[in-house]
Formats: sequence, structure tokens, C-alpha cells
Amino acid sequence: MSDERAEALEQIAAEIRTCTLCDLHKTRTKAVPGAGNIHTDILFIGEGPGFNEDKQGLPFVGRSGDYLESLLKLIGLKRDEVFITNVVKCRPPENRDPTPVEINTCKPYLDQQINLIDPLLIVTLGRFSMARYFPGGKITQIHGKAKFENGRAYYPLFHPAAVLRNPALQSQMEADFRRI
Ligand code: URA
Repeated sequence: MSDERAEALEQIAAEIRTCTLCDLHKTRTKAVPGAGNIHTDILFIGEGPGFNEDKQGLPFVGRSGDYLESLLKLIGLKRDEVFITNVVKCRPPENRDPTPVEINTCKPYLDQQINLIDPLLIVTLGRFSMARYFPGGKITQIHGKAKFENGRAYYPLFHPAAVLRNPALQSQMEADFRRI
């Protein structure tokens, strides 16, 4: 397996860790480039780091992360068999939504990570990563419905935090996950 990929991704991660392109760098503790298996077929894209992620510099390590891990387990996957990253790499203060400017400023990092990992399946978690591939899509209508384009599948799912806030979504989330 090529370690050029590892080197290129590490280079991007290093840029992310010292990035000052948008205001989020002013309030972050650590930037969160992403983590996991860089040779995976499955890439998960969340929204942005929360409190715990900002402290540790790792994606999905708080409550949403525990839940995501339990969903992965349900389908026989471990976190280190997939790659997990976010639309924005620095925590929006008070976990507010990332702004369009922040998302756009961070986009080249995510674009490069996707090009290098070149997964067969991209699973979007929540509205902001969904909007990259399903502009105008409503998560309540399109969750769990894959789109196939240029040899890759795009699969929009609820955000794990949204499911934790609204347990009524849990069975749909599990059913969507099982279709991965
Ligand atoms: N929520 C996200 O969208 N990403 C994380 O990394 C953690 C929580």
C-alpha cells in the first residue's frame, strides 16, 4: 500500500492543525483533521468538532462518538476500519452551526482528503455534509437513500447527535446503518 497517501494526508493534517484561514482558529484548542484507516472503502463526514473533539484533536470522541461507535459495531465495523472526518475541522464556539464561509474556507481540506482516500462509499452524517452531495435535500426525506455517481456511493444519514436528542429516530438510524 502506498505510503505516499499517508504522507500526503499527514501533510494536509499538519496544515489543518496550524490553519488560520477562518476565525474558528481563534477559539479552537486543537484542530481535528480526521482519523482512521486511510485505505478504507468507507469515509464518514460529520459536521464539526464539539467540546471533547476540540480538547483531544480527534473526531467523534464524545457522546456522539460513542453512539457512532456502537452503530459501527452493529454492522461489524470498528472505528479504525473506516475514516472519520468533518466538514469543518475546528470547533464552532458553543457548538453553533458552521457558517457558509467557514464551510467554504475549510472545503479544500476535505476535498483533498476525499481525493486521496478515494473511498467507494461516502456516508454523510447530518445536514452540513449532506449538503455537499444533495444540495437542497431534506434529511428527513432522503436519509438512508444512496446516490451512485462516478463509481462512488453517497449515503446521507442523520447526525448521531440528532438521534441522541430525538430517540424516536433511533430505529431509522439503525436500519439506515444496516444498509451500509
Ligand atoms: N459531531 C461532529 O459532527 N463531529 C465530531 O467530530 C463530533 C461531533
